[in-house]
Amino acid sequence: MKNETILYDDGAHKCIMFALEDEEHQDYSLSVNQYLIIQKGGAILIDPGCGAIFDELYDAISRYIDPSKLKYIFFSHQDPDVAGSISQWSIASSAQLVMSQLWVRFMGHYGLMDMGRIIALEDHGARIKFGKDFLQFIPAHFLHSPGNFSLYDSRSKILFSGDIGAAIASPQNLNKDVDDFNEHRPYLEGFHARYMAGNRFCRAWVHCVRKYDVSIIAPQHGSLFKGENVTKFLEWFETVEGGWEQCEALYG
Ligand SMILES: [Fe+2]
Ligand SMILES: [Fe+2]
Repeated sequence: MKNETILYDDGAHKCIMFALEDEEHQDYSLSVNQYLIIQKGGAILIDPGCGAIFDELYDAISRYIDPSKLKYIFFSHQDPDVAGSISQWSIASSAQLVMSQLWVRFMGHYGLMDMGRIIALEDHGARIKFGKDFLQFIPAHFLHSPGNFSLYDSRSKILFSGDIGAAIASPQNLNKDVDDFNEHRPYLEGFHARYMAGNRFCRAWVHCVRKYDVSIIAPQHGSLFKGENVTKFLEWFETVEGGWEQCEALYG
């Protein structure tokens, strides 16, 4: 299957990237990545996406693990391309559903019936044990959602960054990995300038992320940042000016 990439595998711990699209609306949509981390029969699914890709993602995951055995499903924020399938996954698995406390009350509008399944993250984030390792939920508030987290996997050293690092381009124009950061940057600029709330938040997130040893930044849209492109991305992102800086232009 061409839309499936193993990002990390040491025999006991595995990270898989899926890039499934809502094909009916492909002309109007953007590339969307979903991720799965597996360790010793436990698994966490990251940003499973909208209802239109539920069946395909369920089948893809089934090749690695019984989806009913998913331990956690993490939603970086509340958007439909992230959480639109939450009610389907709540039925198809017994996973605990992890998200910012800000969005719990809205999940009923996606059809979620059992709010008791949700682990509501406080603003400062959380660390959970995952096998011998840990998963760290890093605050990413207002980048772009007001209740937003990135997820760091201590074993693979992959940072799952949600919409931070998202490239806006049709999938045909994007490589799986960023090759030349400067050539890739135009796909980042417009999105980050409008969707991120302001430079102070960008700098705060970079400050948090630099505490961790990051080998890959894996966004929800577009290409992966690896090796020196991790450093280049962080250096660029801390200079991004977002909504706060554009307030006068937006309001006149
Ligand atoms: Fe979003
Ligand atoms: Fe998104």
